[in-house]
Amino acid sequence: MSREEIGYRPPRPEDLVDCALVWHASVNDYMTRLGHPLPPPVLEPALRLNEHLLATDPDHFQVAVTRSVPGRHERIVGFGIGLQREHVWFLSQLYVLPAEQHRGVGRALLSLVLPSAPAAGAADDPDGQTDRRPGVLATCTDSAQPISNGLYSKLGIVARMPVFNLVGRPTSPSALPGLPSGIEAIPLEPAERTSHRNPAGPGKAELEQTIDAIDRDVLGYAHQRDHLFLRVQGRTGFLYRTSAGEPLGYGYSSQVGRFGPVALLDETLMAGVIGHLMAAIEPRGAASVWVPGANDRAMVALLRAGLRIEGFPAMFCWTRPFATFERYLPAGLALL
Ligand SMILES: CC(C)(COP(=O)(O)OP(=O)(O)OC[C@H]1O[C@@H](n2cnc3c(N)ncnc32)[C@H](O)[C@@H]1OP(=O)(O)O)[C@@H](O)C(=O)NCCC(=O)NCCS
Repeated sequence: MSREEIGYRPPRPEDLVDCALVWHASVNDYMTRLGHPLPPPVLEPALRLNEHLLATDPDHFQVAVTRSVPGRHERIVGFGIGLQREHVWFLSQLYVLPAEQHRGVGRALLSLVLPSAPAAGAADDPDGQTDRRPGVLATCTDSAQPISNGLYSKLGIVARMPVFNLVGRPTSPSALPGLPSGIEAIPLEPAERTSHRNPAGPGKAELEQTIDAIDRDVLGYAHQRDHLFLRVQGRTGFLYRTSAGEPLGYGYSSQVGRFGPVALLDETLMAGVIGHLMAAIEPRGAASVWVPGANDRAMVALLRAGLRIEGFPAMFCWTRPFATFERYLPAGLALL
């Protein structure tokens, strides 16, 4: 039987549920073969994230569909989302239904949602100025997945660093000491009301500039819109600073246990900041933290506190380095 022809187009809002189902089916397919089938899908977080990315990066979100023929409905068989933050293009998601894999759909989607490495060049920054930093292509893969790692590596987006999922509740909290004396934690949420709730704290514009400067130093790019999204989704954040007002970093956690992002100008504060966040926002169940291998301070502190490594590590991939992962914990793997 001849296979249906595939076309590509931007998604409509009503396609997002199908995209979330493609994500679950494609991951569950290879995880089942590895003996780790996924639990039934909880689509809500994927839907909210993809709505956010459709709003921030509408030109880098494409779905692969079977071409509609009379009497047959168009079907979504894959999708890809790239996001651009200043000079960094990050492949957030790329999924193709198992029955449609190995026929070039993933490669075609990739070419539509990310520029080629040479074309990534320099980017326009949000103020309309040309960003002189060389462009970077990056993503996060599953170490158990040779197809995606082979596909991206051929383009120079090579796996460079493991990212471990540490899960649990601290059973030895002394490994997470809390903040050293003289360091203040200023609540970030809700951003709009921070200056009203805490008259001694910085105003909204000043706070955004401070967070942007921390992000450019640690993550390599500023991303205010993602901060706002994370806060709307229930993450509670703090700005850390000296009593003299000197910024030291920021950190987020949430009651549902999703931890991060954490960005610190001084990596020696890592265990103290994690300890502060774990005590200030106690999750209802287990905490889940994505820890890049380079962040040895977070890895050691969390393991000693009693969290355990779960599943296969993921891998950060890039064409050239852009972030200082020694001082960063990402929000997740599809949005750093
Ligand atoms: C990864 C995925 C999106 C790729 O989509 P696809 O339509 O199957 O991919 P394509 O057919 O376009 O290309 C696959 C490429 O991987 C390469 N590949 C496959 N197995 C490989 C291996 N063991 N080593 C190296 N390369 C490999 C193929 O050679 C092909 O490259 P080519 O076009 O240069 O020959 C799809 O397999 C999928 O959804 N997988 C499950 C979910 C997943 O892991 N998504 C990625 C999240 S980061």
